[in-house]
Amino acid sequence: MEGDVLFSECNCFRSASSMSRRGVLCAGGAGFVSALIGTLVGASRTARAQVLGARPSEVDWLAVRMVTDNTVVQFVPSEKRGNLAIERRSSGNQVPDAPPRTALTGEWGLAMHAESRRGNQTRNVLIDFGYTPEALLTNMSILKIDPSTFDALVLSHGHFDHFGGMVGFLRANKGKLKKALPLFVGGEDCFCTRTAGNGGQFGSLDRKAIADADLSLMMAEGPAIVADHAFTTGKIPQVSAEKPLQNTREMVGVVDGFGCFPDKMPPAKNTGSYIPDDFEHEIATNFVVKGRGLVVLTSCSHRGVINTVRQAQAASGVQKVHAVIGGFHIVPPLDDAYIRRILADFKDMNPDYLMLGHCSGDRFYDLARDALGDKVIHSAVGTRFVFEA
Ligand SMILES: [Fe+2]
Repeated sequence: MEGDVLFSECNCFRSASSMSRRGVLCAGGAGFVSALIGTLVGASRTARAQVLGARPSEVDWLAVRMVTDNTVVQFVPSEKRGNLAIERRSSGNQVPDAPPRTALTGEWGLAMHAESRRGNQTRNVLIDFGYTPEALLTNMSILKIDPSTFDALVLSHGHFDHFGGMVGFLRANKGKLKKALPLFVGGEDCFCTRTAGNGGQFGSLDRKAIADADLSLMMAEGPAIVADHAFTTGKIPQVSAEKPLQNTREMVGVVDGFGCFPDKMPPAKNTGSYIPDDFEHEIATNFVVKGRGLVVLTSCSHRGVINTVRQAQAASGVQKVHAVIGGFHIVPPLDDAYIRRILADFKDMNPDYLMLGHCSGDRFYDLARDALGDKVIHSAVGTRFVFEA
């Protein structure tokens, strides 16, 4: 394949390794490689996503399943609240039809499966891939989620707890996924190598694995339509008082096929060293449920959860927020005063439901329950939220 030859000339696809000066030098050449990919391979592999031009189409029915999440639950019953059904799944041997000695696996990370219907039309989208393929694949198997039905994949942002399971998922499902299955990302920044706040490696996306899986890489810097039924926010402006934590660092450059191309990045980020992560590429995935309003799948909310919802409103023109699902990332050192400001914003916004999972924060959950009562619902591995018109 032409793309592989081009990448191989840069010696970029052999293994993941720590970022180095050599990596940055390699990345300098990768600008040339990137340009060629754009002309030779990009037409079939990389595309601008379809812009969300007008108000998005509504869906009649939407089910969002937490496939990977931080917690598992036992002995929590399913329930119905008005039009909302909350289906809980036990983690252990009470899982119906599960193979012996398998259990739903909780781990730090997030993956969500959204199934939507409009008339007779059904769409399936996987948003994020969790931290490990083992958890993702085990949970998908127990939950009977069939990857061959997926109409699109979305990666919310380039953090390992959201893409760590991706390569294993693609390998396990080689030949089973729909041809040229779209993978939406929020921009080139998604590919940059990152470290955690303590300096530990936080990974970068494997470009070869994406190419080998024959995915169509959809660059969605602006609001974009996903599988006819959903839309991504595009870049999330900071319009609220939220001050997102900068607890990761990013670096421009490609080494061994991992990293982001300098010529596709702003010059200010081409420093040759790690800089604070600004999360500018993070996107949320959203639906409009007929008669109910927006359902925002926020993933990790590094740009601020209020900012994220505001951008979903701005992009869609839909003001009513039915539900926000995912990681809200309101964690220490953010204090009670900060949390109460967020909750005041949510009170003004008046969503019907907030489903807190993944990185939402224990203290935020406690204070949100105090302030908003049963609007606030915890999520766990296997939990499915079903919305109807
Ligand atoms: Fe996360």
